[in-house]
Amino acid sequence: MQTQFHNKHFITLQEWTKEEIDTLLDVSFELKRHFAMGVPTPYLSYKTIFLMFFEQSTRTRNSMEAGIAQLGGHANYLDTSTMQIAHGESAKDTAIILSRFGHGIACRNCFWGIGNKYLREMAQWATVPVINLQCDLYHPMQVLADLMTIKEKVKDTQRLKVSIIWAYATTHKKPISVPLSQILLFPRYGMDVTLAYPEGYDLPDWAIKQAEENAKANGGSLRITHNQEEAYEGAHVVIPKNWGDWVTNPDPAVINPRLEANKHWKCTEKMMSLADPDVMYMHALPADRKNEVEDSVIDGPHSIVYDEAENRIHTAKAVMTLTMGGK
Ligand code: CP
Repeated sequence: MQTQFHNKHFITLQEWTKEEIDTLLDVSFELKRHFAMGVPTPYLSYKTIFLMFFEQSTRTRNSMEAGIAQLGGHANYLDTSTMQIAHGESAKDTAIILSRFGHGIACRNCFWGIGNKYLREMAQWATVPVINLQCDLYHPMQVLADLMTIKEKVKDTQRLKVSIIWAYATTHKKPISVPLSQILLFPRYGMDVTLAYPEGYDLPDWAIKQAEENAKANGGSLRITHNQEEAYEGAHVVIPKNWGDWVTNPDPAVINPRLEANKHWKCTEKMMSLADPDVMYMHALPADRKNEVEDSVIDGPHSIVYDEAENRIHTAKAVMTLTMGGK
């Protein structure tokens, strides 16, 4: 078991070995058991993490704030529009100063072409771990919780048929970071991943290549289709979720002709009936109900979205414990 995580940055799970991810999962399960039993876990007493948010959040912010409190530490929530960043202060200066004040820096910055670069620049200068709370490319906190949830339900993930399916939504032009992180991570656990989307909603070529390499090295597979029915057929897990056409169209406008042409990409009971009888429905949330998914599916017997959301806190606590603690 890998145990050396102190000050390790958490920007993408692609930069964590499988052995390291297994330790993250192991600690997540232990923290979940302790939480259920009311056993205190003050592994980060008197430690401070800074939570910088360029965007809105419900799950990520609250899992981090409640999580650090349950570990005996404290979070400073930072709305970046009220920081000197709004007047142009650099990522470098912000990272160096916050490193001197506390023990971890976490950040959500999803601006296309900017977010990951911003996190990388902070990581270059920070002397404490930099934790990615979602950028334009990756959402490692979400997919770690997804993996934990799948492992709780099925134990053996080898050859599990998981379909990541684009879905119609109008709430905002969502990042590609969730599906991109899922196609990279799931094949490392031997899953047979299908990525389904209408023409134009491509993920970057480099990500597809990395996902294929991950699959080859770990006995999983990656298949791409533009037919949503095909993605549902026989699937053990379906993850229908919207993402923006950032790769082919960086315009941030939410509604465009391509989006409107694909309203029929929706998770319905009819689609679910094509899947395995015990199929599980997952979604990172927030869901655009009635557009992405019918209420009867997300509220129905196949849905595990609340277990998935709950695991955000247990995995967040594991990431903080291992990167900010130890030594
Ligand atoms: N899934 C997720 O990251 O949720 P929030 O945007 O509410 O943090």
